[in-house]
Amino acid sequence: MLTQEKTMNIEWGTLPFAYFPTDFNVRVTYKNGKWLEPEVSDSEYIPIHMAATALHYGQEAFEGLKAYRGIDGKVRLFRWQENAKRMRRSAEGIMMAEVPEELFGEVIKKAVKLNAKYIPPYGTGATLYVRPLLFGSGPQVGVKPAMEYTFMVFVSPVGPYFKEGFKPVPIEIVHDYDRAAPLGTGHIKVGGNYAASMRPADRAHKEGFASVLFLDALEKKYIDEAGPANFYGIKDNTYITPQSKSILPSITNMSLEQIAKDIGLKVERRQVSVDELETFEEAGACGTAAIISPIKKIVDRSNGKVYEYGDVAGPVSTKLYEQLRGIQEGTVEDTHGWTEVIEGI
Ligand code: PLP
Ligand code: COI
Repeated sequence: MLTQEKTMNIEWGTLPFAYFPTDFNVRVTYKNGKWLEPEVSDSEYIPIHMAATALHYGQEAFEGLKAYRGIDGKVRLFRWQENAKRMRRSAEGIMMAEVPEELFGEVIKKAVKLNAKYIPPYGTGATLYVRPLLFGSGPQVGVKPAMEYTFMVFVSPVGPYFKEGFKPVPIEIVHDYDRAAPLGTGHIKVGGNYAASMRPADRAHKEGFASVLFLDALEKKYIDEAGPANFYGIKDNTYITPQSKSILPSITNMSLEQIAKDIGLKVERRQVSVDELETFEEAGACGTAAIISPIKKIVDRSNGKVYEYGDVAGPVSTKLYEQLRGIQEGTVEDTHGWTEVIEGI
């Protein structure tokens, strides 16, 4: 009854991108070389061994996807199989037990269904964020992989990551911090990458920017990515996005590349030098949490140089945004088979 009252009072339209308690989460343990049966929990806490490898050696990876309430009332997941694949790559990268795709799908759908009343209504701009988490829960003191793992999924209703929503934001190029190294872990979704980004991100926020734009760690010449989102630029009817070993392969970016082709743009994935920023007509950051966040201006913190793209979202970013949201919410035909309706809610 209490939670029912709680959801009835949610101001869906002003939800921040933040933790919001829901009723249930789902957990699975990997033990003796196999995954056990998923268990439903109503606790927000996890009992964890004090020597768990997640706590000491960062054996931890996570994912982020969303459940969308469509215009037709149906609830859709967007390309969840890609999240499952990326979580397996993350697990492989830091030697954790891999979660099979079928188990991943079963657990995320269960977590969404159990918390169906927290799925924001269509048209509010909010969605149900789904957070799968995999970590070494078994003890080790030497630096080596755990023998036991926990895979769990919780959900939270959220608004867009950048509070401005689909409004251009200022971002800041940093030269004095790296998020990830070319042969490090930037290409997988492990917690350590995010720890490394916190100090420059916090400074950027204090300096009035929505996010940091990281450069390649080796030469400091090329754009890597924008905090928790990939970067793209638009010029000459072309969608251009960085190629780099140290950025996370974004499922949103991959989808935008396809949508860009569908609407008649050329697509280039290649190195993008800082100098090229002044040639773009539009720029943006994209990701599950960020959706598309158009960029108003980019300031290079090392020399004060400013690249401006305007206070209003450009026509290409607007079109990409509308197509992407439309597919996710069932207003645009899903010609690539990217969405799956969760039956029974
Ligand atoms: N880059 C980083 C570092 C991220 O954390 C995310 C979010 O997952 C993205 C990019 C966007 O990826 P996706 O579109 O798969 O959410
Ligand atoms: C996402 O876009 O899903 C993310 O995981 C970004 C973030 C909140 C780390």
